[in-house]
Amino acid sequence: MKTKTVFACSNCGASYPRWSGQCRSCNEWNTLVEERQVKAGSAGKGKGARSTAQGRVVALREISASGEERLHTGIGELDRVLGGGVVPGSIVLVGGDPGIGKSTLMLQMCAGLQPYAPLYVTGEESLQQIRFRALRLPTAPDDLQLLAETNIVRICDTIQQGATGLVVIDSIQTSYREDIESAPGSVAQVRECAALLMQKAKQSGIPVFLVGHVTKEGMIAGPKVLEHMVDTVLQFEGERVYSYRILRAVKNRYGSTNELGVFEMAEQGLREVANPSELFLSERSSGESGTAVVVAMEGTRPLVLEVQALATASSYGVPQRSATGYDYKRLQMILAILEKRLGLNLGQYDIFVNIAGGLRLDDPAIDLGIAAAIVSSYRDLPIDADIALIGELGLTGEVRAVTSIEARVHECRRLGFRSVMLPGSAMKRTSAIEGIELRPEERIVQALVDLFAGAASASS
Ligand code: TYD
Ligand code: MG
Repeated sequence: MKTKTVFACSNCGASYPRWSGQCRSCNEWNTLVEERQVKAGSAGKGKGARSTAQGRVVALREISASGEERLHTGIGELDRVLGGGVVPGSIVLVGGDPGIGKSTLMLQMCAGLQPYAPLYVTGEESLQQIRFRALRLPTAPDDLQLLAETNIVRICDTIQQGATGLVVIDSIQTSYREDIESAPGSVAQVRECAALLMQKAKQSGIPVFLVGHVTKEGMIAGPKVLEHMVDTVLQFEGERVYSYRILRAVKNRYGSTNELGVFEMAEQGLREVANPSELFLSERSSGESGTAVVVAMEGTRPLVLEVQALATASSYGVPQRSATGYDYKRLQMILAILEKRLGLNLGQYDIFVNIAGGLRLDDPAIDLGIAAAIVSSYRDLPIDADIALIGELGLTGEVRAVTSIEARVHECRRLGFRSVMLPGSAMKRTSAIEGIELRPEERIVQALVDLFAGAASASS
């Protein structure tokens, strides 16, 4: 068998004939690793095998459009993140840190998909370990077909036998192809194993879930190429100190990438959290300065949660800025706006911003809340615990309109907030909503004056 040596980047998957310190494709340093590759064609399953096309021109209308019948996993949060269920023939990568609950999620999914005779292929754990885990779950998938195998060709042969309607590979990093000489988990192995499975999925219409570990840098270990190959990439994340877990679609050819599923890791496996806001607000520190309640849209669902800020006089020459769960550049912009429009002397302060619960938010509608929390900490004045803040900040200090304002306000009302501060322009489109006071604001300066008016007079 012909083999050649290549150097593949463990970050982006690019390969080179020679080693070099830096990958020319993704510019990362020290990521090239030596790999022995089987030359395309020599094993009959080289590069060419990856294509799923049959090489015949067809008219668009000849292609069946009924492929949209999705399988429902019985886990509402998972179905939603997938875009409404599992698409036949799709290949889904489930990434996440070790121990976060990927195997548990897959096992529970299989329990819900029993009618499709799922096949769970384990390369990491023994069959006993899986049995023990299954015993903890509320619905044990007793008829689940298990296979302890890491040889990808043998796995594909088993799939070929046709007794299964869905396959889980736990994990892609333990799978290997004999005709590739590098170790399991290497770029070439992961890529070629995934290619083979992808071909199987597309040919047979059997959906395949690949479990993959994430490196410290937050990337699916090994090649980023894997992300390009698969149809959907789900990221399972959470802080170990908290019991809840967030499932996020990072890429989805069959749905939106904004959707978010929230779970709680309990004694009996993962539990869906239907009202995440209640969970995120449950540990709220009301009455303290430096916290504000914001409303972020995650997909179609409004999430109400707490943001925290700490402003302390800096004891070193260079003041520190730190943003956890929030964009660092955006924090700097907000600080600049506060300095310019309110004349705050933030250059002498260390500023820390944190989204409660270890969540990451990119919705600009939380700007107003972030700014208010910073000022609250800076002045040591608490914000009224019954108010939620919605609004994006513009560079001139204007409070800008945001999307889905009604959905956000309704969620606040449902959670029992008495009032919402929101962009003035939103009032044109929002009629009064019963049971909650709407407080429109045009400018950050006035918004903060209004917000702290009560608190300031109470404390002085
Ligand atoms: P696991 O699914 O093995 O994680 P991964 O496959 O991502 O490595 O989950 C491991 C953790 O979840 C483990 O620390 C134990 C915990 N766990 C529970 O708290 N409750 C349960 O019912 C189960 C099955 C696991
Ligand atoms: Mg696992």
